[in-house]
Amino acid sequence: MNVIRRKRRLAPGVYDFLIENKHIVKYAQPGQFVVIRLHEKAERIPITIAGKEEDCFRAVVRAVGKSTYELCLAEEGSSIMDVAGPLGRPSEIDFYGNVMLVGGGVGIATLLPIAEALKAKGNKLYVVLGGRSKEYVIMLEEFSKLADELIITTDDGSFGIKGVVTDGMQLLFEREKIDIVWAVGPTIMMKFCSMKAKEHGVKIWVSLNPIMVDGTGMCGACRVSVDGKIRFACVDGPEFEGDRVDWDELLKRLAQYRKEEEESLKLFIQEVGDLSWL
Ligand SMILES: Cc1cc2nc3c(=O)[nH]c(=O)nc-3n(C[C@H](O)[C@H](O)[C@H](O)COP(=O)(O)OP(=O)(O)OC[C@H]3O[C@@H](n4cnc5c(N)ncnc54)[C@H](O)[C@@H]3O)c2cc1C
Ligand code: FES
Repeated sequence: MNVIRRKRRLAPGVYDFLIENKHIVKYAQPGQFVVIRLHEKAERIPITIAGKEEDCFRAVVRAVGKSTYELCLAEEGSSIMDVAGPLGRPSEIDFYGNVMLVGGGVGIATLLPIAEALKAKGNKLYVVLGGRSKEYVIMLEEFSKLADELIITTDDGSFGIKGVVTDGMQLLFEREKIDIVWAVGPTIMMKFCSMKAKEHGVKIWVSLNPIMVDGTGMCGACRVSVDGKIRFACVDGPEFEGDRVDWDELLKRLAQYRKEEEESLKLFIQEVGDLSWL
């Protein structure tokens, strides 16, 4: 159970894992996530299920702090102690017509099962993928096969259009009648995507990633304000309608343990040595 069957480097500090777990493979639906604990003393890490292959599920992880660095260091053939899930509500997959999918960073991996399910329902997919530079735009091959139109944006112009994903959204909004949008990526990106979709009067789903602990609605760590009401991203989400989210509150809550997180990563690097090669 939970053996890492395959590990591939997709971009600097970004790894694609295939993890054996028949239960997750049987029950997972697009938009859902798992909570991983690497070993007895490890923190619980929420990670989206990025696909399934035979009796394994796919997880794409970016090393940002101690726990995700530790996970990205785990070797092929080793085992993960616990995988809890599938958790969260699945995406609302249906026939909508013209669907715009917007992905940034590892959010691109979360979008993949959603894109596959929407395509299977007969939707036309307009996909915008963005990254800091060419090497950070992951899963291009998979999205090239699925998308009816694919727009790439990079901050430094090393690939595709020089700009951010909302520039790609604007191009499509000017040209096509878009019926619904999904955006997954860094919180700040999803905030601006939501503003852009609102400007054009189109409904947008975003997949939130607040700090989570138990992933079951008991601890309150993942609370977010949506439509002025308190919601728990782990059980009421992680997908919410983007124009209803209190983004400024969410961004503030995400930064609340920054000092402790930095200290914990510093101690980990002291223990294991330089990790800039990861
Ligand atoms: C539902 C859900 C699905 C997720 N799916 C994925 C995924 O598929 N792939 C992936 O790489 N990551 C995913 N994340 C984010 C991942 O869980 C965090 O990056 C991880 O928990 C950070 O732990 P850490 O100890 O490595 O870093 P920490 O030391 O805790 O944090 C390091 C830095 O990361 C930021 N951070 C902390 N927690 C989060 C968070 N939950 N989301 C975003 N930034 C955070 C902090 O602000 C800090 O700057 C998901 C999060 C949620 C809630
Ligand atoms: S993570 Fe504890 S309530 Fe959502």
